[in-house]
Amino acid sequence: MIYFDSAATTLLKPPQVYAAADYAMKHFSSPGRGGHEPAVFAAESVFACRTLAGKLFDADLNQVVFTMNATHALNIAIASVAGKGDEVVISGFEHNAVRRPLHLIGAKTVVAGRHLFDPEDTLRSFEKQISPRTKAVICTHVSNVFGYILPIEEIADLCRRKHVPLVIDASQSAGILPVSLKKTGAAFIAMPGHKSLYGPQGTGILLCSGVPKPLIAGGTGSLSKDIDMPDFLPDAAEAGTHNVTGIHGLSEGLRFVLSHGVHTIRAKEDLLKRYLACEIAKLPGFRVYENDKHQTGVLSFWSENADCETLAQRLSEQGICVRAGLHCAPIAHESAGTIDTGTVRVSFCWYNTLREAEEFVNSLKNC
Ligand code: ALA
Repeated sequence: MIYFDSAATTLLKPPQVYAAADYAMKHFSSPGRGGHEPAVFAAESVFACRTLAGKLFDADLNQVVFTMNATHALNIAIASVAGKGDEVVISGFEHNAVRRPLHLIGAKTVVAGRHLFDPEDTLRSFEKQISPRTKAVICTHVSNVFGYILPIEEIADLCRRKHVPLVIDASQSAGILPVSLKKTGAAFIAMPGHKSLYGPQGTGILLCSGVPKPLIAGGTGSLSKDIDMPDFLPDAAEAGTHNVTGIHGLSEGLRFVLSHGVHTIRAKEDLLKRYLACEIAKLPGFRVYENDKHQTGVLSFWSENADCETLAQRLSEQGICVRAGLHCAPIAHESAGTIDTGTVRVSFCWYNTLREAEEFVNSLKNC
């Protein structure tokens, strides 16, 4: 099998991730809920993972909140910065994990920056759309469909100058590009653990500059007599027993990323992306969305010879895993002009090889 769907979930993980999750399931119980060994081991494991995440993302230990995925983290962040009727500026490349929670709470959205791979236009558009009415800015760092790297540091700088809270969706950048809570000064940065951080599904992180509004309430193992949730981090946003199995696995994923470095990981994925973009572009009837500078290892294409779902199905029959359709990001497809066709998306991880990319091209020719 060739797995080119790491933008959804990295299936190929460092072996120590699988081993850690297995070990935790057998030996750890509920962190902060007891003085016996399994509870203490669990607490130590969660503490270790917080420390590693703080190191990778330039955040203090208590600014690292564990969630079940990026969507959960974004929902906490969004409910903390906006409410019914508030105006929120978002990019033209947001995922439904941003679009739907904003709709659910009744916020009004203004879309900034519709031009693919054009960071100058994106920045100009944010500058134009942020007004005194803007309650918050929510922006993805990298498009999950096209791998477009948005100018997040410049957008963060703009938000700081205009005193508007910024929420960053780092779902496709965490583990691939430098992400810093301190440097961006973002109010919140949300990310999954199961993509380029190589952790298990069911893990996510919300980096918090301040205390978010609790999305759910419950036991925290602290201040148990109080009816209210603790008003300090991370407890304010971590009700209920943690996913210790996942978090212990995620620690190994974070160690892997820290030891290789995001630049090395990105360079490897970039090589595969460039090769595939070049080869697919040679095929008659194919349109590929590639950019030299402003793209990660996420590549979209479509063909006038067959619809995207059919292509993905034919690839799957040859043992190749990709994702086709709208990728839960209709705004991004509207921006790129692919809302009617959708795209086939290939996305890589550290363990993919050039040989797999060559096999992919041969399979695509047979579709
Ligand atoms: N958001 C994930 C993706 O882009 C699941 O496929």
